Amino acid sequence: MDKIQVVVSGACGRMGQEVVRMVLAQSDMQLVGAIDPMSVGADIGAIASKEPVGVSITPPPEMAQTLSALKPDVMVDFTTPAVAMENIRTALKAGVIPVVGTTGISESDLVEVKSLCEQTQGAAIIAPNFAIGAVLLMKFAAEAARHMPHVEIIELHHDRKLDAPSGTAIKTAQWIADSRGESPQAKTSEEKVPGVRGGEAYGIHIHSIRLPGLVAHQEVIFGGLGQILTLRHDSIDRQSFMPGVALAIRKARSVKGLVYGLEHLL
Ligand SMILES: NC(=O)c1ccc[n+]([C@@H]2O[C@H](COP(=O)([O-])OP(=O)(O)OC[C@H]3O[C@@H](n4cnc5c(N)ncnc54)[C@H](O)[C@@H]3O)[C@@H](O)[C@H]2O)c1
Repeated sequence: MDKIQVVVSGACGRMGQEVVRMVLAQSDMQLVGAIDPMSVGADIGAIASKEPVGVSITPPPEMAQTLSALKPDVMVDFTTPAVAMENIRTALKAGVIPVVGTTGISESDLVEVKSLCEQTQGAAIIAPNFAIGAVLLMKFAAEAARHMPHVEIIELHHDRKLDAPSGTAIKTAQWIADSRGESPQAKTSEEKVPGVRGGEAYGIHIHSIRLPGLVAHQEVIFGGLGQILTLRHDSIDRQSFMPGVALAIRKARSVKGLVYGLEHLL
């Protein structure tokens, strides 16, 4: 079977480099392009894997040309929300399947991607969390919420993460809200420090912590009569996302329309 041809956008970033290393290590995938404003012209292999692999980094304005020249099967994107949306549009118009891990993509963006997929008869995979353990945590949290509806979410990430709360925390709140029958919430009558009770999504409090040293972590704490249940997932290394990204790349050619969330591929 033909190798899956992959272009990586955001190839010099923390996640992008990890994706490059992962793709280079797979016998059924071929890295055909790397796009990033950083280190243009350099060999991406030398940056991500210490050894040149003959793929030089092209600058972002050349995305459309790069995709139409290389005709890859898949474009993996780990950049920023605005960049990712532009890349998704370009990829779908070029008949390339975007596999996107960039977080902060809004509901209205998802509506646009869905309709672009329909117009182009293309497919797109967007997952706010490619760590399989994090997806399992969301599933377990939805199950627990049916029996213990009092719940709050704490998400902890490295200090260079641009968006808050994390896409995973919002999605966890949505799953919990869909699953629990009642929506109890402790009321604080006096907030001595504004915002101290966190933000709220789907009626659930979310607390975002940003510190150097962290990677990506989430705790979902359920309170009940005389008992506490804590579910926690820790991505302690960015490699934790790679089995999920590899799975999405492998499934990309067989999906239809927009697939939002790794859980639909497991
Ligand atoms: N879905 C997941 O499982 C998951 C896991 C970790 C991080 N993320 C998300 O991935 C994204 C990237 O995270 P990161 O830590 O690698 O960030 P980063 O800042 O290290 O990397 C982003 C890269 O994108 C590049 N870039 C900027 N504009 C570009 C453009 N127009 N075209 C191509 N490349 C461009 C930057 O130069 C940089 O190298 C963030 O949104 C983060 O939240 C998702």
